[in-house]
Formats: sequence, structure tokens, C-alpha cells
Amino acid sequence: CALLGPKNKYQGLHMVVTAGPTQEPLDPVRYFTNHSSGKMGFAIARAAAEQGADVTLVSGPVNLTPPPGVELIRVTTAEEMYRAVMDAYPKADLVIKAAAVADYRPATVHGQKMKKGGEMAIPLVRNPDILAELGKKKENQILVGFAAETENLQENATGKLDRKNLDMIVANDLTMAGAGFKADTNIVRLYFRDGTEKELPLMTKDEVARQILHEATQLLTKQ
Ligand code: CTP
Ligand code: CA
Repeated sequence: CALLGPKNKYQGLHMVVTAGPTQEPLDPVRYFTNHSSGKMGFAIARAAAEQGADVTLVSGPVNLTPPPGVELIRVTTAEEMYRAVMDAYPKADLVIKAAAVADYRPATVHGQKMKKGGEMAIPLVRNPDILAELGKKKENQILVGFAAETENLQENATGKLDRKNLDMIVANDLTMAGAGFKADTNIVRLYFRDGTEKELPLMTKDEVARQILHEATQLLTKQ
């Protein structure tokens, strides 16, 4: 509403944002994870809360200060993230899944520290695909996913957009300088359900966050 001014641009909007990696334990001292820093998801949560949105941020283990005014739910594994996101889903208008969820977890979590011996192989089982589940249960929510790719960016990203029933996907080309997990900047391409796309120039993750929010909330008003 224009009368509320820019600080309250997203007043009344309920959002769920996920961020960071997940950690999948193997034994009391070891786990599988990935290089996600959580910066992109935290930047989105911060930008939305600054503009008045009601934000639930579900984050894996990261080293970041929680954004003011955001409800932060800390999780460790993909299964914990799945449960937290599903609980928050019914009242959400918009879900942005920036987390790098582990696709697999060790089939057995050993109670004691594993001992070395000869060759070893660790059986893994699939984790739930949180975003695909959200896509199946979608009612009026706008669903935004991320795709970090090292090859075939457009094909891989639009494939995920279709398969997971998303409205928009933010595609990251990890081979480009200034993009990806650790940096404070990002270069992304946005692909939309209607087949259109938008390329954003290199910018800070805070600026990328504002652009993603702008585009995602436009989709909400078009519904
Ligand atoms: N995602 C998810 N749950 C998973 C795996 C991924 O919610 N178990 C979400 C991510 O948060 C991201 C999107 O799905 O928004 C795409 O993740 P990505 O790893 O790029 O795609 P996958 O479908 O896992 O395919 P692959 O890793 O094989 O490329
Ligand atoms: Ca994956």
C-alpha cells in the first residue's frame, strides 16, 4: 500500500525463508555437509523484515547474526528442516528456499565413534525433497527455489522449476567469478513459470535479495 511508505512495503506478508547447509550425522563426531554460507537466505530474510514482512527463517548451521525482527528456527538435518518448513507452510504467502539441503544422509547414524580399518564405503539414503513436497501441497503460495549449477544452467534450472511446481527459480552459475556460496556478491538469472527469464548483473547479495523479493511479490499480486 503506497500510503504506508517504503518501510512497510511488505506489511501483512507471511514469508518462510530457508538458508544455509544441512548437516547429516554419521557418528558422534562426523557429518556430511556442503559449503553453503547462508548469506543469501539471511539477506532475503533481512530485506523482507526491513520492509515489514512477517518472516520465519529456517536455517541450517551457519555463522551469521540473526536479522532483527525475524523468527529464526535453527535446524541441523534435512529432516528437521523438512518438519520446520511444513509446520510454517500453511500460513505462508511466499516461500523462498535458499538452503542447500543435503540430498542424502548416512543410512545408519552410529552411536559410537567409528573406528578405521580397511577400505570403507558409507551407505547413504535419500533425504526428503522439501521443495518438491511444498510444490505438491501448494494452494495459493508463491514458491521460489534456487538452483546452483556448474553446467547447463538454463536446462537444469527450468527442469527444477517444472518438476517442483515452482513460480520462480533463482539460478546461480557457480563457474562465474563473484557468484556462489562464499561470496558477498552474486550473479543470478531468474526463470519464471510463464517461460520468461531475467538476467541480473553482478551485485551484492543484499541487492540480489531485494530484487528477488520484488519479483516474487509481483507474482503474488498477479495471482
Ligand atoms: N531442495 C529441497 N530439498 C532437498 C533438495 C533441494 O528443498 N532435499 C531445494 C533447494 O533448497 C533449492 C532447490 O530445491 O531451492 C534446488 O536444489 P538443488 O540441489 O539445486 O536441486 P535438486 O533437486 O536437489 O537436484 P540436484 O542436486 O540433483 O541438481
Ligand atoms: Ca541437491
